Amino acid sequence: MVSLGPGDIELVTIKALKALKSSDAICIPTKSKDNSFKKSLTHKIVTALMREHNFTKPIIPVYTPMHFKKEDWQYQVDVIYSGFEKYDTLSFVTLGDGAVYSTVYYLLDIIKVQNPTLYCNSEVIAGVTSFSQASAKIKKPLCIGDSRFEIVPLLDREVPITTIYMRPKIGMDTDKIIEKGDIYTFENMNYKGENITPYKKSKVDKYMTLFIDFFI
Ligand SMILES: C[S@@+](CC[C@H](N)C(=O)[O-])C[C@H]1O[C@@H](n2cnc3c(N)ncnc32)[C@H](O)[C@@H]1O
Repeated sequence: MVSLGPGDIELVTIKALKALKSSDAICIPTKSKDNSFKKSLTHKIVTALMREHNFTKPIIPVYTPMHFKKEDWQYQVDVIYSGFEKYDTLSFVTLGDGAVYSTVYYLLDIIKVQNPTLYCNSEVIAGVTSFSQASAKIKKPLCIGDSRFEIVPLLDREVPITTIYMRPKIGMDTDKIIEKGDIYTFENMNYKGENITPYKKSKVDKYMTLFIDFFI
């Protein structure tokens, strides 16, 4: 599951590029029923990347109607399964970062149940979000000092919330963090001593700690 960033090929991560280059084929979502890529932004990014970095890969169109229906996600998963009948490694691409309102997790949830081995062998590659890019474009921070920022889907109802807790003090007691969902502690991610625990650690040991209370 490869995050492509917000549309600028220079904001595709090296890891994403390597994944695309080492995949046997690339699954690209399209909203067009005829499997054409006339309206597909992901297709534009992938083809621009192939041109810029001199590689080509077979492309598998994945019809993605955005109706938020289980059968549509199942169809997309089935396209991925049939891709694996022919190829050993596949990339499925998504805009921005896969963690933010992306189809990726609807598909992975299905794959987790139907094909646990494929799920275990899968990887999600993080990307630059649209709002990180928006902030950079106008040189305004999303949060600084004592501020915080929220992502609010424009819907007419209450929605479940994911909360990210950052900038703790070493030695701090985490009692004040009231768990509402599924909380994890991430310490020294990608650095020496990386530690990810599927619960809230009671004390903060490292400055590079963040807690994410994932919505349920
Ligand atoms: C389905 S969400 C995907 C978000 C994406 N995964 C991300 O990390 O930004 C699509 C929404 O993201 C925002 N968005 C994504 N790309 C954008 C862009 N290039 N310009 C403005 N808004 C964008 C819009 O609010 C759009 O409705």
